[in-house]
Amino acid sequence: MRNILILGASGQVAAHARRALLAETDNQLTLFVRHPEKLGAVDPLREKVVVGDALSLADLFRAMAGVDLVYANLGGEDIEFQSANVVTAMLQLHIPRLIWISTLGIYDEVPGEFGRYNKAYLGKGGDHSYLETYRRAALTVSESDLDSTILRPAWLTNRDDVDYELTDKGEPFKGTVVSRRSVGELVARIIQNPDAYVDRSLGVSKPHTAGDRPRLYA
Ligand SMILES: NC(=O)c1ccc[n+]([C@@H]2O[C@H](COP(=O)([O-])OP(=O)(O)OC[C@H]3O[C@@H](n4cnc5c(N)ncnc54)[C@H](OP(=O)(O)O)[C@@H]3O)[C@@H](O)[C@H]2O)c1
Repeated sequence: MRNILILGASGQVAAHARRALLAETDNQLTLFVRHPEKLGAVDPLREKVVVGDALSLADLFRAMAGVDLVYANLGGEDIEFQSANVVTAMLQLHIPRLIWISTLGIYDEVPGEFGRYNKAYLGKGGDHSYLETYRRAALTVSESDLDSTILRPAWLTNRDDVDYELTDKGEPFKGTVVSRRSVGELVARIIQNPDAYVDRSLGVSKPHTAGDRPRLYA
């Protein structure tokens, strides 16, 4: 039995990962949230809630006591500061394994017209744009001494399906969309077999969803 810390546990992808981890493993889950009221039902036998902010190193240290693996489902304009704090706290506490949710496009790896659309939509790569801040946050993770897996999901949908394919770093991104449930269940799969995914940065998308625009209803 391991203790998994979920940062941003009230997030939408995290909700699917939580559900899968509770169903498929005997792991204990530590749920790190700014707003516990957003969590919904918590299993008191398997889950512990820690209220905190990833911008606070002290909050992260408090949450990381006794943790074996961290899954960060964070977001926002200050994502690079959050990533720096997460990496610093994990290294100091000798927690080696991190799963980090990022986004498609951080390596300019999305080909064709959809790649151009995605880049323009996500801030044209400007210094403070979503894409650039997410790129710098992912770089902080991948250049650290942690054993990490970075996930780069396509545009997220709330479809209730689990259907995804992966592309490695260095390969052109495939597809345009993927369900949050697919990403959450992939996270649960990685947590159950972490060695297979170590030091990888994976594009995640639904097969057969290529197009010039996100195929949100595919
Ligand atoms: N939308 C897309 O199409 C798309 C595509 C690819 C990747 N992504 C990215 O994938 C990630 C996961 O997606 P999602 O749908 O699960 O996002 P989400 O529902 O917005 O979840 C993000 C979580 O991060 C938490 N958070 C933000 N700042 C925090 C802080 N300083 N301290 C603690 N928690 C903090 C939020 O908590 P609060 O509830 O307190 O705000 C929220 O629970 C996001 O980074 C998103 O940008 C999105």
